Amino acid sequence: MTHILAIESSCDETAAAVVACGGGFDVKSNVIASQIDLHRRYGGVVPEIASRMHIEAVTGVTEQALKEACLTFDGIDAVAVTYAPGLVGALLVGVGYAKSLAFALKKPLLAVHHIEAHIAANYIASPELKPPFVCLVASGGHATVALARDYAEYDVLAVTRDDAPGEAFDKIARVLGLGYPGGPAVQEAAKNGRTDAFVFPRVYFDGAMDFSFSGVKTAVINTIHNYAQKNLPIPLPDIAASFQYAVCDVLSERLVACAVRAGVKSIALAGGVASNHLLRELSQVRAKEAGLNFYCPPPVLCTDNAAMTAVRGYFEFVAKKFAKTDLNAVATLSISV
Ligand code: KG4
Ligand code: ZN
Repeated sequence: MTHILAIESSCDETAAAVVACGGGFDVKSNVIASQIDLHRRYGGVVPEIASRMHIEAVTGVTEQALKEACLTFDGIDAVAVTYAPGLVGALLVGVGYAKSLAFALKKPLLAVHHIEAHIAANYIASPELKPPFVCLVASGGHATVALARDYAEYDVLAVTRDDAPGEAFDKIARVLGLGYPGGPAVQEAAKNGRTDAFVFPRVYFDGAMDFSFSGVKTAVINTIHNYAQKNLPIPLPDIAASFQYAVCDVLSERLVACAVRAGVKSIALAGGVASNHLLRELSQVRAKEAGLNFYCPPPVLCTDNAAMTAVRGYFEFVAKKFAKTDLNAVATLSISV
């Protein structure tokens, strides 16, 4: 067994985890210190506050992860860390801390790409899943459909050309006064709404599988403003349900289309938006119709966590691809090809 200690600080969660890897993945601990309450009053993540909070939390979260795993630093075989993409100041905290740990402990340092880590969350939940498969990573910062050719080799099949789906959920929630983060709040508000009450736009590009969510976002905001300007009560459940349906319809449809085009037998979901019930349901139904296997991690492994970082880091460990102490944080970076 290889014990990987992982640190994740790409956005607004300071996370540390220990995963025993080899012949499956046994999550020994998965500690997440969320800053959501601090950012809530601003309606979204404030990068400077995020960096400062990571500095305050990272040591305690790491010690807690070791304690829950019943290990000391001596029992760790390598230190994995998210180095890209994300908020650069936030990433720097995790990268700086992990580099010092690895150097002081004389253990290998493993550099992990955040989107690849989200994809790797599927290996924890579904040990039977093996590449090749096509995975949709939908989060607050990303919408990427990737063909996982191997455990560390991918082809990007589609990306968003503007907003990420989680960003659209967060913005709509803010306009509707539902608070931050928007995804769970919109999902809750949509429970009693009709998905066909409003037909919000879906964007398709000629010959490309890419996404665009800025149009649907603007259309929903205009609808809300129209009601407000006429002093009419805003039909919140119907707007939430129709918006959620428009986004999840496109995401699930495109995921399955990419998988069929790539000729794989399985699809998977990942990222914070993959916790969405409707996205999971539509993807599962469409996978079945297309004769594909469907995989999805539990919600706690969909949103940001360090267990997924440890698993992706393990594949670097096996390949002996160790990062050096000059490792830097990178705000924008495509996944490995
Ligand atoms: O993966 P994640 O934790 O962080 C990033 O890497 O961005 O994703 C966070 C995003 C937020 O935008 C949040 O609103 C969204 O995931 N989210 C959801 C749900 N739960 C979280 N979106 C839709 N439905 C949900 N149930
Ligand atoms: Zn993420």
